[in-house]
Amino acid sequence: MLTKAELTREGDVNTSAHRETWVNCLAKESRELLRADEAVFMRQAMSTPCLNVIADARGCYITDKDGKQYLDFHGNSLHQVGYKNPYVLEAVKKQFDELPFIPRRYTADIAVQAASALIKKTRSREFKVLFTPSGAAAIGLALKIARKATGRHKVISLWESFHGAGFDSIAVGGEYAFNKDMGPLLAGCIKAIPYNGYRNLINSTCQQTVADFCLDYIEYIIKNEGDIGAILLEPIRATDTHIPPQAYFHRLRQICDQEGILLIFDEIPTALGRSGEFYVHQNFGVEPDILVLGKGLGGGLIPQAAVLTKAKYDCAQDISLGHYTHEKPAAGCAAICAALRYIDEYNLLENCRTQSALAAQYAAILCRQYDCIGDFRIAGLLMSFEIVKDRISKAKDAELAENILYYCLEHGLSFKISAGNCITWHPPLIVTPEQLSFAFDVFEKAIKGCMK
Ligand SMILES: Cc1ncc(COP(=O)(O)O)c(C=O)c1O
Repeated sequence: MLTKAELTREGDVNTSAHRETWVNCLAKESRELLRADEAVFMRQAMSTPCLNVIADARGCYITDKDGKQYLDFHGNSLHQVGYKNPYVLEAVKKQFDELPFIPRRYTADIAVQAASALIKKTRSREFKVLFTPSGAAAIGLALKIARKATGRHKVISLWESFHGAGFDSIAVGGEYAFNKDMGPLLAGCIKAIPYNGYRNLINSTCQQTVADFCLDYIEYIIKNEGDIGAILLEPIRATDTHIPPQAYFHRLRQICDQEGILLIFDEIPTALGRSGEFYVHQNFGVEPDILVLGKGLGGGLIPQAAVLTKAKYDCAQDISLGHYTHEKPAAGCAAICAALRYIDEYNLLENCRTQSALAAQYAAILCRQYDCIGDFRIAGLLMSFEIVKDRISKAKDAELAENILYYCLEHGLSFKISAGNCITWHPPLIVTPEQLSFAFDVFEKAIKGCMK
């Protein structure tokens, strides 16, 4: 059986004793608002009851209603260019003044510019775009495109994965917290073992062998199931930063090509430079057939997602794939253009790589010193510390991870816990060395303070 902490893989438990103590220490006004929130919003795991009341978000920081500032390394993975980025904000305001809405059947300069800008960032530039209002909707669209293009309805995705909370996306997702109590889901969704499914072997066995175990199983499914139209995965799992080796992707690409299966990469929380490359798959030298983007695409301001599909699969002219009201969203497109320009003009990829190297150095020191860090994984500014009882047993220590979280929150550093015991940081790409140093300092003090 999964523990409560493991069940909520996507975030920290919002009904623990720790959470209650934390909330009780907030000022009266904040506690009242949290109660008011709970009275009007449906309760759900990982969100309501909420952690705190937010009053402002700017750059790498959020400020709560009590006036306390937190360096935010969570940011729902959407603050690549920082919160309230003035450059993006200005572009969106201008767009609202000039043309706030593009009705279906019409296009506008800004829509073509946004789609072109995303295509230009791919290596092959052989993609066409559809926009959707959310990541979950974009995943649904990707699955429909794969069915239409291949004439096959089955899809392989991975256990422990998350692709959004819609009915189609929970069917391909591999998390019990999302499909529990939901009854029959979309047919034809088959789960394979993720690279991290063999997590205990990864350190003792060659990564290549582990990758081969996973891919052998995928080939086994393909042969024994038949009718597989697509394979869907996050190339780097965002919540707990699992990074398969390059060879995994090369063989996966080969399998898809041989079998006429479309490869779909969900880069919703991880693209736009976070991994050190603009798109995550660019780290691995392969290109997917369908690329799904979201979160930071709206510059941290506008809910915005997109599906980029290889132009050769532009084959659905006789049906409607999306038909969204905001199909060519003016403000979203302005946000995309501005966010991409900002990333380029301010060399955020370079900053990401520089700060990533610094974070890796800090982390290496901590790993040498503290037995409770069972593993540290990093790609660009995606990183996770696995908190364990000790490095020999590698038993997950969800309790210690939670203690560390609340210590850090108390001392002005915000992040989330994933998979029960992973401390996951997604700093914005504008993060400075001073901010990283602050974060590692607080984190080390938290480890020392909580291990007593
Ligand atoms: C990997 C992944 N896919 C899909 C989604 C769904 O995106 P949205 O919340 O915009 O529907 C998320 C959101 O957290 C995600 O992390």
